Amino acid sequence: MKVQEAKYVMSNSDYLKCPSPDLPEYAFIGRSNVGKSSLINMLTEKKSLAKTSQQPGKTQLINHYLINNSWYLVDLPGYGYAKVSKVEREKWEKMIGDYLHNRENLICTFVLIDIRHSALDVDLDFMEGLGEAGIPFHIIFTKADKLKASQAAAQVDAYKKKLDLIWDETPPMFISSAEKNEGREPILQAIETYNQSFEKTK
Ligand code: GTP
Ligand code: MG
Repeated sequence: MKVQEAKYVMSNSDYLKCPSPDLPEYAFIGRSNVGKSSLINMLTEKKSLAKTSQQPGKTQLINHYLINNSWYLVDLPGYGYAKVSKVEREKWEKMIGDYLHNRENLICTFVLIDIRHSALDVDLDFMEGLGEAGIPFHIIFTKADKLKASQAAAQVDAYKKKLDLIWDETPPMFISSAEKNEGREPILQAIETYNQSFEKTK
């Protein structure tokens, strides 16, 4: 799929104030600093569409981007950022949870995992929550440029093994690097396939 147009629409703390839910939507979620906003910029080939930072906790709202006037990409705040206050963290978690559980046009979510880390409980628990709520998800490993290709493949393999212990079926997985522009086509292709089935159900 070609991204011909990508534009920022709005930012909200409440899913009820998000754009009307009549286009297919895909959300990026993961621990703070994992590279959600950078990946949105990479996919849309717009360096500063979504705001990024070396400091965790940059994205603090539900941000909608309209792609090709036909679907939404959503940048969410990260979870598991220890340095914000408990009150603030709970507020973000509620905002993300309400959005994920109630957004009716959310077709699937992409859970981002830093490829350098072994499986963390915070991510595994989050995915389990998605599974229990019946929210489909894919996994995108980020920052692949930080490892050699063989190390990256070994990390993905180990992650898969860990997921196999929990899930009957492992979700689709992608390897990406926003730095090196890697993984763009397969991710956009997956979205395109969903968009086509959304069209058919209309
Ligand atoms: P929050 O909004 O704080 O939750 O973070 P985020 O998940 O949106 O991460 P963001 O895109 O802001 O990136 C965090 C840091 O990681 C920035 O310094 C990015 O430049 C860096 N980064 C993101 N993706 C990559 C990547 O693929 N490779 C490398 N080397 N660095 C990356
Ligand atoms: Mg961000």
